[in-house]
Amino acid sequence: MMDSAALSCKDCTSWRGLLFTVSLLTCWLHPTTSQLTIKSVPPIAVEGENVLLFVHNLPKNVKAFSWYSGVAPFKCCEIASHVIATNFTVVGLAHSGRETVLNNGSLLIKSVTKKDSGYYTLRTIDSTSRPEIIRAEFFVHRPLLGYKKHLTPSKLTIQLVPLRVEENVNIFLWVFNLPKKLQVFAWHKGVLPLEHLKIASHSFLTNSTTLGYAYYDRVKVRNDGSLLLFNVKKKDAGLYTLRTVSVDLISEWAIIDLQVNTP
Ligand SMILES: *[C@@H]1O[C@H](CO)[C@@H](O)[C@H](O)[C@H]1NC(C)=O
Ligand SMILES: *[C@@H]1O[C@H](CO)[C@@H](O)[C@H](O)[C@H]1NC(C)=O
Ligand SMILES: *[C@@H]1O[C@H](CO)[C@@H](O)[C@H](O)[C@H]1NC(C)=O
Repeated sequence: MMDSAALSCKDCTSWRGLLFTVSLLTCWLHPTTSQLTIKSVPPIAVEGENVLLFVHNLPKNVKAFSWYSGVAPFKCCEIASHVIATNFTVVGLAHSGRETVLNNGSLLIKSVTKKDSGYYTLRTIDSTSRPEIIRAEFFVHRPLLGYKKHLTPSKLTIQLVPLRVEENVNIFLWVFNLPKKLQVFAWHKGVLPLEHLKIASHSFLTNSTTLGYAYYDRVKVRNDGSLLLFNVKKKDAGLYTLRTVSVDLISEWAIIDLQVNTP
């Protein structure tokens, strides 16, 4: 649904292969000892915009790093490698000519297209030659009917209740200003509207709600778009995206970042 069919298989591997890899990688993609994080700015872009994969807290002892498209550091998917001391970049097979590696670790991708949607992997090497791997994602929309390149900001917003979330509590993602005359809304984990990342969707045409496989016994959705998620775990941390499509095919979205604290 909604753009997912057009999501590209990135480079060398099929989505199925990538998904298998994702599940294998999940545990070590969330390093507990390091605060290294990446934010996609913006996490959902419109074709033609620039996206910055903004690296925070790159450790001081990192000597070199490489960026890859996809969920794993495969040579074939390498965008570029960079040595910090010399500020020297070598482009890889997956470089499209639109990516710029910055000396602070961040990656700028200019004029993004729908095909750029997906996961990106950063691999850093520190002075002990210990690699660390971290992943980011962003989604690129075609300019949809109803909006131009520069969107008027959507009024759709999400508020997290409670504000500070600890493990094992129930949370409420409270939605404000759900647009009128909707066909459908859908919640996804992360920003990619992929079927296996779907939490729930609701069709107003049939007044029916569908829950994602991994969530069917853990969530409730309300007609106003709000989502109740029971018994939150550490693995539930991350971005949540709500997308709406109106009967006029106007699409809006809102994103919330859920942090799950240890009590
Ligand atoms: C990295 O460099 C870019 C471009 O100079 C800048 O926009 C960004 O803020 C920098 N990131 C950090 C974490 O300093
Ligand atoms: C690194 O090199 C690029 C050009 O390749 C230059 O624009 C940038 O200012 C350099 N950064 C540092 C920190 O020297
Ligand atoms: C949609 O279905 C729910 C129960 O599943 C019902 O309570 C509600 O009144 C229905 N709404 C409309 C507009 O039919």
